[in-house]
Amino acid sequence: MTKIHRQMKNLLVTGGCGFIGTNFIQYVLENTDFDGRIVNVDKLTYAGNPENLAGTARRFGDRYIFEKVDICRFDDLRRVFERYDIDSVCHFAAESHVDRSIVGPGAFIETNILGTFNLLELARARQDRLVLFHHVSTDEVFGSLGAEGFFTEQTPYRPNSPYSASKAASDHLVRAYHKTYGLPVTVSNCSNNYGPYQFPEKLIPLMILNALAGEPLPVYGDGRNVRDWLYVSDHCRAIWTVMRHGATGETYNVGGANEMPNIEVVEMVCDILDELQPVAGPSRRDLIRFVKDRPGHDRRYAIDFSKIRESLDWTPRETFATGLEKTVRWYLEQRRWVQRVQSGAYRRWIEAQYH
Ligand code: NAD
Ligand code: TYD
Repeated sequence: MTKIHRQMKNLLVTGGCGFIGTNFIQYVLENTDFDGRIVNVDKLTYAGNPENLAGTARRFGDRYIFEKVDICRFDDLRRVFERYDIDSVCHFAAESHVDRSIVGPGAFIETNILGTFNLLELARARQDRLVLFHHVSTDEVFGSLGAEGFFTEQTPYRPNSPYSASKAASDHLVRAYHKTYGLPVTVSNCSNNYGPYQFPEKLIPLMILNALAGEPLPVYGDGRNVRDWLYVSDHCRAIWTVMRHGATGETYNVGGANEMPNIEVVEMVCDILDELQPVAGPSRRDLIRFVKDRPGHDRRYAIDFSKIRESLDWTPRETFATGLEKTVRWYLEQRRWVQRVQSGAYRRWIEAQYH
């Protein structure tokens, strides 16, 4: 079979000021042969930081454009599609934290489902020019595994949290727009990411920052829930590979071949910190506290990524040991970033800049 080589000129990235979106935009502009422009639309929720891309904006001039837009606002989004003659979409924007979805699912339904619907409708309206709509999704749509087995692209959807249910709904809409209208789509379902720019509510950055501050490290339940960790740049390379070369209408599972129980991840974070920034007294492992379990907590995620490996020649490059150490070093060096994302003053600054 001849290899697909998609050419995209005006690429809309949604949620580009979040963790993976930021890494993706930097990756595409700095490390690929893409020579078009990227238009980043982001609502700037608590999780979005336009400053992440300030250096990118300086370096790439009009090849990088930022628009503060809520994907739930159809008319605002339509103006962006028209103004920049969008021919391709990479859709990251989402409410992304499971614990928040348990406390307040409403925003997840709006952004993850209705926001995706708006994007699909606008993509359909310019289908004659559309090269690709890529949807970034999660392995959590498949539900929970027992001790054995792996998620494949054929695993039935069984989402257990409001977050994963909303992502599952968006995946189904993307699939339906391909089957019904022939929209050129691809989907990737990836395991847990970690790396620079991750908001410190997710396990790894939360543990790094709490441990640095000498605060308790809350491990849910018995700490034996298993996640498959992938370094964020490996995920970005997988998404770009699928966008450039993946078969239209296909989904691809992406994983790190790195299953770990949470407690072992937290212990590794403590050990790296003890080495890089030693403290007098006991190890930071002493800060670990087992706390009440998350409701509906999925026990184990594990990905079979043989499809993307065999058909598109993608495999993860970073090992967990090197990736985690790089990540810890990044948080140690980026104290200003951490202070800003954690402070209310930063929210007020964003409001003043973009309203
Ligand atoms: P994140 O929470 O760090 O970033 C989300 C971004 O979307 C933020 O910049 C936020 O401001 C923006 N956003 C939220 N609502 C919006 C709206 N209504 N309109 C416009 N922008 C909005 O999330 P992330 O971890 O970078 O995840 C990005 C995508 O990747 C999500 O779709 C998520 O489901 C998926 N994913 C994440 C992981 C992971 O481990 N983090 C793994 C697999 C898939
Ligand atoms: P998280 O980073 O929230 O990702 P997800 O729920 O999408 O997998 O959590 C990763 C794992 O770590 C998950 O099993 C829940 C657990 N966890 C804790 O034990 N303590 C915490 O404080 C957090 C945020 C997560």
